[in-house]
Amino acid sequence: MPDSKTTAAVTAVGTYLPPDRLTNADLEKLVDTNDEWIRTRTGIEERRILKDKTKATSFMASEAARMCLAKAGVDASEVDCILVATVTPDVVFPSTACLVQNQIGATNAWGYDISAACSGFLYALTTGSKMIEAGMHQKVLVIGADTMTRIIDYTDRATCIIFGDGAGAVLLEPTTDGTGFQDSVQYVDGSGVDSLWMPGGGSLHPATHETVDARLHYASQDGKTVFKRAVTGMADAAAEVMERNGLVGEDIRYLVPHQANLRIIDATARRMGVGPDQVMVNIAKYGNTTAATLPLCLGDWENQLRPGDNLILAAFGGGFTWGATWLKWSYGA
Ligand code: UT7
Repeated sequence: MPDSKTTAAVTAVGTYLPPDRLTNADLEKLVDTNDEWIRTRTGIEERRILKDKTKATSFMASEAARMCLAKAGVDASEVDCILVATVTPDVVFPSTACLVQNQIGATNAWGYDISAACSGFLYALTTGSKMIEAGMHQKVLVIGADTMTRIIDYTDRATCIIFGDGAGAVLLEPTTDGTGFQDSVQYVDGSGVDSLWMPGGGSLHPATHETVDARLHYASQDGKTVFKRAVTGMADAAAEVMERNGLVGEDIRYLVPHQANLRIIDATARRMGVGPDQVMVNIAKYGNTTAATLPLCLGDWENQLRPGDNLILAAFGGGFTWGATWLKWSYGA
């Protein structure tokens, strides 16, 4: 019997990765590090880098959105709303969503950016899903996109090794077949603000010669503190959303974890009781693309997903921000 409740189904995924690669060997030339350290401490082998300085986050977001809409067979003019999760907008304002709207020709859409660092896509997915559930919209584009290499300090070896560039988009549409967005938990703890942030460029430290000299316009991370909080935050959120819905490890087809560090992913999987074949991991290829990690995973695993598959998406990031979402996949052979 079909469930008559309206939920938000993911009906297509699109991704964009810039063609140029930044390998561990490349980083060895920039900072005092080595391939073995990076692989064993993070699981990362290479990342993508948007080298064309005339392009930025809206370009990657628009490319991902175009692929997503083409796969869904939906014209851009049909899109009702565009939500872009990013901490690397092309400009401080207007929002990246406005730029994407113009670039893809979504002539009937409104939209805005969601700033929640590595949890941005998760937050945007919840927001977009609630718009669909409320009957407000029929087609919502949820995009996670970040050009982290533009805000990374390539003299800071503990931070520069992690991040890369990329974008992913999903289309949300209403369904009554019982699949789609099921439940989520999300949190913030603003006491973590200076553990992972970019101090310059906002209204507190607008750009001056002094702020540039002090390197305030780069992402700054206290890796150890973030690591400790991320391990418990991601695992606790994933466990919470499972427990309150009566789910156990064997009910889950895939954990879709934020790709920040392989050791954080492994800890979350252990806590959920899922094995390695139930975890999406592509950190080796792309590193940490901030808001793009979750849709990039969905893109890479799309062909293996079937209707009704239970996915737990989990993320932790700057703020601190974190959360987890239970999504039932809606399409596939
Ligand atoms: O995406 C959202 C949030 N971000 C995260 O979730 C990232 C969380 N943090 C991490 O993944 C890890 O903290 C890092 C990968 C960033 C760093 O790994 P770590 O194991 O926490 O290293 P550490 O900062 O504790 O440093 C350990 C040692 C230090 O040397 P000493 O003081 O023990 O002699 C560092 O100087 O490793 C050294 N080190 C490096 N050595 C070679 C730090 N970075 C490097 C490097 N290459 N790139």
